[in-house]
Parts: sequence; structure tokens; C-alpha cells
Amino acid sequence: MKPKLVRTVAALRRETASWRKQGLRYAVVPTMGAIHEGHTHLVSKGLKRADRVIATIFVNPKQFAANEDLDKYPRDEEGDVRKLGAAGTHLIFLPSPGDMYAPGFTTTVTLGGPAKAGLEDKFRPQFFDGVATVVAKLFIQTGADYAMFGEKDYQQLKVVTRMAKDLDIPIEVIGVPTVRDPDGLAKSSRNVYLSKPERQHALAIYSTLTHAAEHIRAGQNLQSAIRAATRTLMALGFKVDYVTVRNADTLAIPQHRDEPLRLIAAAWLGKTRLIDNIPV
Ligand code: PAF
Repeated sequence: MKPKLVRTVAALRRETASWRKQGLRYAVVPTMGAIHEGHTHLVSKGLKRADRVIATIFVNPKQFAANEDLDKYPRDEEGDVRKLGAAGTHLIFLPSPGDMYAPGFTTTVTLGGPAKAGLEDKFRPQFFDGVATVVAKLFIQTGADYAMFGEKDYQQLKVVTRMAKDLDIPIEVIGVPTVRDPDGLAKSSRNVYLSKPERQHALAIYSTLTHAAEHIRAGQNLQSAIRAATRTLMALGFKVDYVTVRNADTLAIPQHRDEPLRLIAAAWLGKTRLIDNIPV
């Protein structure tokens, strides 16, 4: 299917108004492009819930720090449109940075709770304010009934869920389990930065987390499981930003073992930063 491309909020609203008139429900899949199977899976899940799916493609400058990869972030509009169309996306919204942040734009969403859990926020301090600001705009611009987010960016999922609830944005945020390659590597737009040997090496993040989760389920103390996982990754040459176990809903440090738990890790392999997480 060939999706309709719209580049302005006015054109987007014309389309969604006509869907509403027909009584259709629709989901949004926010992306920064570099579309892979993780994104097309979100489209498929959106199609199961709703009559129409909108994907958005916008490389959001507000969530990149000066030293991060904004300029070299992979961009391929034609390829992205083709892949999203093949997955069944009805409409793609591709705003320009100038439209998204028109001259005089000053508003930022300020966050608490899961955005201050000491995970990504500790290493990328401006990241979630940038994500929440653009996601709030996309939720309001699209007026979608559902928003599909991958669990791969687990803290992001919790941050946007909390933000939509706190700001009374009438949208249901749906978390979708991470799509992995058959060998376990989580699909990510940044995997293209990995060399062939690094790609092989990167598998250790998922296998180490899986191993730690098994040990925790078998009764191992949380701190020793975390220490062992960190040591394993360091011994394999990763520069570990964090390996931690958190309450799966709030991302707070767990007080009891019977809370819902999530193991979460971020580590550098060469020049590429990888994140992953799994339920315990
Ligand atoms: O996960 C992403 O690709 C981005 O953070 C998002 C949600 C599209 C906001 O720019």
C-alpha cells in the first residue's frame, strides 16, 4: 500500500478529521526514521487495535546533546516510506524542524518520576525533556487514540505513558515487546553503526541480562546478580553505563522481591551505545 505523505499539521488534521467523520479509530507510531522491523512491528500492532495507522518521521533535534549523533543519524526518507507502506501504514507525517519548532518556540515539558530514575537521564540529561516535548506535540497534532512504543526504550515508554496521563492527553500508550534478531540482538536504528565483529559481540548484552534474570528468579540476591552481570560485560570489553534492576512500572529501586521487576542495561561497544532490558 502506498501511504499518504503529509508535511504540515494542517494537512495532517484534514486527514484525521475525515477519519473521525467516518467513525474510524487510529494509532500513531512515532519514529525518527531509519525504519527497521522494530518499527514495522509497531505498525502491525497498531493495525490490530485501530482502523488506521499514522507513522511520524522526525529526527528531533531537541533530544540530541551537542556531542551526540544528530548530523550522522541515519536518514533515508524513500526507504522509510517504502518499508512503512509495506507494513500497512496509511499516512506518514514528516514535519520539518522549522514547522515543529517555529521561530519563537520556547515551551518544554518538564518531567519527574520515571524520567528521573537515574538511568538514561543520568547519561543524557536533556534527552527526556526533548522526547516528551516532541511526543506531546505529536500526540496533540495527530489526536490519535493509541500510541505504539517499543519496550526496547523502556524508560522512554514509561516517561511518555506518565506524561500523557499527567497532561490528560486522551491517548492510550501501548508498550510492545522488543523485536530481536534470531540470535537475540534487539533491533535498533543504531545497530547500523556496529562493525561485523561488534555486531557479534553485542549479543552479550541480551545473553548477560537473560542469565542474570534466571539467577534472580532462582533466588539470587538482586545486587549480586547486577554485580555479576556488570563484571561479565566489562570483562568482554564493554564500557558499562549501568546494569540495574528496577520496579517495572515506576523504575524506582525495588523495595521487595515480589514487585514486578525489570533488568535494564546500557553499555558502550566501541563508539556505539547499546541499551536493552528484559522482564525478570
Ligand atoms: O524512540 C524514538 O525514535 C524517539 O525518541 C521518538 C519517540 C520518535 C521521539 O522523537
